[in-house]
Parts: sequence; structure tokens; C-alpha cells
Amino acid sequence: MTKRLEGHHIVVTGGSRGIGAAIVEKALAEGSGVSIIDVEEEAGRAFIASLNAPDRVYFARGDIRFADDIEDFHRGAVAKLGPVTGLVNNAGRNSNADPVTMTEVQWDEFMSVDLKSAWLCARVVLPAMIAARKGAIVNIASVHADHTFPGYFPYAAAKSGLVGLTRSLALEVGRHQIRVNALSPGWTETFLVAEYFARNPPEMRQKVLDVHPMGRIASPAEIANCAAFLLSDEASFVTGANWRVDGGLGARFAG
Ligand SMILES: NC(=O)c1ccc[n+]([C@@H]2O[C@H](COP(=O)([O-])OP(=O)(O)OC[C@H]3O[C@@H](n4cnc5c(N)ncnc54)[C@H](O)[C@@H]3O)[C@@H](O)[C@H]2O)c1
Repeated sequence: MTKRLEGHHIVVTGGSRGIGAAIVEKALAEGSGVSIIDVEEEAGRAFIASLNAPDRVYFARGDIRFADDIEDFHRGAVAKLGPVTGLVNNAGRNSNADPVTMTEVQWDEFMSVDLKSAWLCARVVLPAMIAARKGAIVNIASVHADHTFPGYFPYAAAKSGLVGLTRSLALEVGRHQIRVNALSPGWTETFLVAEYFARNPPEMRQKVLDVHPMGRIASPAEIANCAAFLLSDEASFVTGANWRVDGGLGARFAG
């Protein structure tokens, strides 16, 4: 297999499980070094131990809501694996707030995780990318950026914002040969989706599968394949775009 990410150092936020963990595995398989920042220390350390690549992996516990945590993590990552060549803003969470009772603190906290953090992380890796005249940023958005679902307030606002941030940043850094893309997964088998099915009646899972043109939802590895492409030189003229990986769900009309 061609090693598309040989010589790279990719940062994956929230890389301890789910889609982030699949991107970490794929980047390693493609020859890259990988650094992970995640709030879940125990899960993160157990995951990186399972990868069996201690020289090519760096992990630090950190909360992407906070610039100081990101800067500390970035210093440690660069000290171990050199300048960052690729960033995947993956960490995120669901929001199921009520638009009337949601507090400003809850709003700000949610938007910090699902939107602001992508800028904070980009801010620390961009100087080295600008100096190298090379780099790729992938923002993990969602199909909710285009069409959403009742009960998810204000998840769609954060994910649409992330796609807007992608466009805006792509235009700012394009002249430095840095590419910025969004990747919008549809339903993917991870903790977030398991949590959703657990909250709903058992027939909900079948209902969801039935509306999918392919009759199934994604595995995290299928999302990671697209991320690896966007991070690699094969995507050298791809920037400012939003890549939907939703098994055709977004192409479907109701009925
Ligand atoms: N699973 C899906 O169906 C789906 C669909 C579309 C988009 N997404 C997006 O994909 C991304 C990954 O989702 P997932 O399903 O793998 O979720 P997940 O909950 O399995 O994993 C998210 C990871 O992010 C970490 N994280 C959360 N908040 C953090 C914080 N403040 N600081 C540092 N780390 C933090 C978690 O500890 C966890 O390891 C999210 O941005 C999510 O919105 C998921």
C-alpha cells in the first residue's frame, strides 16, 4: 500500500475513540506521526498503548475549550514529533438543549467545543505551516451543517459555523499553500450514536437504517479514509470544500 502520509505529523483532537481514533489508526498506517489531545486521559492512554507505535504517537490530556491546554499540548507534540503538517479538528459533542431554557453559559460551553476550538487549534499550528508553505486542516463537521433533526439544538449552528470557518480560513491561508476542508460525516457507529439509540425506543435504529440509500450507517474507518485523502498530497488542489460522507443520506427527499 502507498504510504500517503510518510514524513507527516498529524494532530487529531478527540482522537481517543470513535471517528478520531479511526483517523489516528489510518494516519499511522499511512506512515504519519500522530498527536492526540483528549479530555479522557485513561481512554487515551489505553488507546495509544494498543497502537504499538510508541515512537510515532504523542498523547496529552487537554480540553480544547482552553487555549492554554492547546498550547501546552502543541509544545509537547512538536518536541516529540516535529512541526505539525496536518490538523484534524475532530473533538466534538452533541447538544440536545431547549432553545428557551438553555443558558448562555451552556451555549458558550457547547460552542467552545464544537466551533471555537477549531480556530484555537488552527492558530497554534498555522505559523509552522506558513513557514513550510505546506499544510492541511480538516474540520470534522456533520450532515447537520446542511439539514438537521429535531432535538439537536444548536448542533446545526455549530456545524454550519465550522463549514463557514473552513471557507473563511481556506481563503486566508491559500496563498501559503495550506489547504482547509470540512468533512461532514453522516450517521457513524460511535459512542455519540450509541448514546442516541440508547435514549430512543429500540425500533429507532431500524428506522434510521431504512432511510439510508445503502441500508446501513458508516463505520469510523470509512470516515477516516476520506480524512486521510484530504490530509494527503493527493488532495493538493482541494480546499475550501465540504466533503459529505453520508452514504447518500443527504441526497434523499422525504417519503
Ligand atoms: N458519530 C456520528 O454519527 C457523527 C456524525 C457526524 C459528525 N460527527 C462528528 O464527528 C466528531 C467525532 O465524533 P464521534 O462520534 O467519534 O464522538 P465520540 O464521542 O466517540 O468521540 C469524541 C472524542 O472527543 C473527545 N472530546 C470531547 N470533548 C472534548 C474536549 N472539550 N476536549 C478534548 N477532547 C474532547 C472525547 O473525549 C472523545 O474521545 C464530532 O465532532 C462529531 O460531532 C459524528
